[in-house]
Amino acid sequence: MCGIFGYVNCGICRERRHILQVLFNGLRRLEYRGYDSAGISIDDCLPPSSSATSSTSFSTSRSPLVFRQEGNIESLVKSVYEDVAAMELNLEESFSDHAGIAHTRWATHGEPATRNSHPQTSGAENEFLVVHNGVITNYEVLKETLVRHGFTFESETDTEVIPKLAKFIFDKAHEAEGDQPVTFSQVVLEVMKHLEGACALIFKSKHYPNELIACKRGSPLLLGVKELNEDASNESTLNDSKFLSKNGQPKEFFLSSDANAIVEHTKKVLVIEDNEVLHIKDGGVSILKFDNARGIHGAAPSRPSSVQRALSILEMEVEQINKGNYEHYMQKEIHEQPESLTTTMRGRLIRGGSSKAKSVLLGGLKDHLKTIRRSRRIVFIGCGTSYNAALASRPIMEELSGVPVTMEVASDLLDRQGPIYREDTAIFVSQSGETADTLNALEYASENGALCVGITNTVGSAIARRTVCGVHINAGAEIGVASTKAYTSQIVVMAMLALAIGGDTMSTQARREAIIDGLFDLPNKVREVLKLDAEMKELAELLIAEQSLLVFGRGYNYATALEGALKVKEVALMHSEGILAGEMKHGPLALVDENLPIVVIATRDACFSKQQSVIQQLHARKGRLIVMCSKGDAASVCPGNSCRVIEVPIVEDCLQPVINIVPLQLLAYHLTVLRGYNVDQPRNLAKSVTTE
Ligand code: M6R
Repeated sequence: MCGIFGYVNCGICRERRHILQVLFNGLRRLEYRGYDSAGISIDDCLPPSSSATSSTSFSTSRSPLVFRQEGNIESLVKSVYEDVAAMELNLEESFSDHAGIAHTRWATHGEPATRNSHPQTSGAENEFLVVHNGVITNYEVLKETLVRHGFTFESETDTEVIPKLAKFIFDKAHEAEGDQPVTFSQVVLEVMKHLEGACALIFKSKHYPNELIACKRGSPLLLGVKELNEDASNESTLNDSKFLSKNGQPKEFFLSSDANAIVEHTKKVLVIEDNEVLHIKDGGVSILKFDNARGIHGAAPSRPSSVQRALSILEMEVEQINKGNYEHYMQKEIHEQPESLTTTMRGRLIRGGSSKAKSVLLGGLKDHLKTIRRSRRIVFIGCGTSYNAALASRPIMEELSGVPVTMEVASDLLDRQGPIYREDTAIFVSQSGETADTLNALEYASENGALCVGITNTVGSAIARRTVCGVHINAGAEIGVASTKAYTSQIVVMAMLALAIGGDTMSTQARREAIIDGLFDLPNKVREVLKLDAEMKELAELLIAEQSLLVFGRGYNYATALEGALKVKEVALMHSEGILAGEMKHGPLALVDENLPIVVIATRDACFSKQQSVIQQLHARKGRLIVMCSKGDAASVCPGNSCRVIEVPIVEDCLQPVINIVPLQLLAYHLTVLRGYNVDQPRNLAKSVTTE
């Protein structure tokens, strides 16, 4: 939810036009995190001497400029260029030092409107400006206090208290200290002490030109550093503190909610940790950290201490975040599943030799497998698509581990305060690794003493850091809001997890080896099922005007029914429901008539004959059926050629959900495009749901 971005150029001339482009491009890369309004702040003037080399003589009498606009990034871009022209600001004007900030919003407090867009300001002079991702839970109390001190608020956001509090603290410090200057970090450290909830923040101030402060608690934030004269290779010494120190080299700094907006500039990054306050100034970065900062529960903070951090190299290529030859990210991500699955499995499947059995190696888990095998229960916890992926993996986990497996939607577990014990293994599944409900459930399960395992696509994410051990999905960046390739990779990771947990049981060895063979062949099978693209487009053309679609599945493919329906509803904005076929006669059958389209998943597995019977019963009630079956089964599943059939390749039963979801992803994609909706940024949704 919400993307924040910052750009600082130090000791290198950048035209205003360039600065704007960097900020806009940063926002474009983050737009999938929120797209109902956006804004930026830049400086409006050169130092009085017009010398583009000295930042020290910058006139603090001029306030930073703020541009905000309801709507998507392109609406902001258009309005900024119009405003800049109206203000007669020269786009060619160069700044040797400059700090700009930007924000793309997914509304939580207050409707999408210019006044609620970020940067939020301390007041008319823009003395302090803030872009924020997260939610400040005690903002009402802070607002009341600030109102009592004469501040007036113009927005309904929780964020507005932050710049106003900064101004309040800055003014108080000046009153108390006279001419003694208070530093930007001192102001922000004091602000942070008063904030509760989750946040990633970037501060810009009229009083501290060319400086930015970044800090976070909960929500993600990264710093990218590019030294302009550095060796072209990104392999240079990361521990070399020169990248963060003031060494006189011209530098650019990029702050971003995620790596997508940084990788095109540099691969040298620092994943900012909770309670760190980073101060970018004069080409250097200083980091202060609270040991025990006020957190979600409001514990009192200790004194901050200065910390040294090394940069790391992003394992990501720019191509990953481009659409390539595809029209949409969702389309690209559906079609790249053979490759993403290959990456997910790389180095983890062991073929076995003449005397060695085939096996699975999950480096991040090997020291914990014994504990997991001894657990009283495995509890899968997630939301949305990640929950569905876990549900698809539940049967194989039960079968191979011999441990009872239960499922929890993260928010529901918290609502019920459901029982979690120290003998439990709790597995948290999340593409982003930052979903608030899943994170809260993780905190809850940790407090209850369970072994917490993470399965996430985002290295360095909160779930990756806060779990004891885990497995990265390695599906590559997923930018379409609708999760596709992460879903199939999650299922594969959980199948590998089941294989690893069950890896010491002789009685299941043949079964495990068959699954491993199936995993090796899976990318080819996905390639094959992707050939249904044109057929799914045709089906979408038939369904374009429908109001509703039901999807019936059971066993391994109950999850496919839920996930297929979720895809259709979230992007095509068509009502769609995934139904457990075993429940058909307990209610849903009443909906069946000759108009309502129903997809029945009836691929070969232990439930096949039951699904055949479901088809018969739906057919007897003149149901309008679309049956998904294994290749060669069309005639046997579809009585009298009375229904439309989707034939898919057959794989091991526990991997079949990976194959079966692909036609439904394609169907959802084509339905959306044909219905004229935005497929990558569906109405009201954001990629990372960082609020409860
Ligand atoms: O990042 P996560 O996997 O934790 O996200 C969970 C859900 O918000 C997410 O899967 C959501 O359901 C997707 N938009 C589905 O396509």
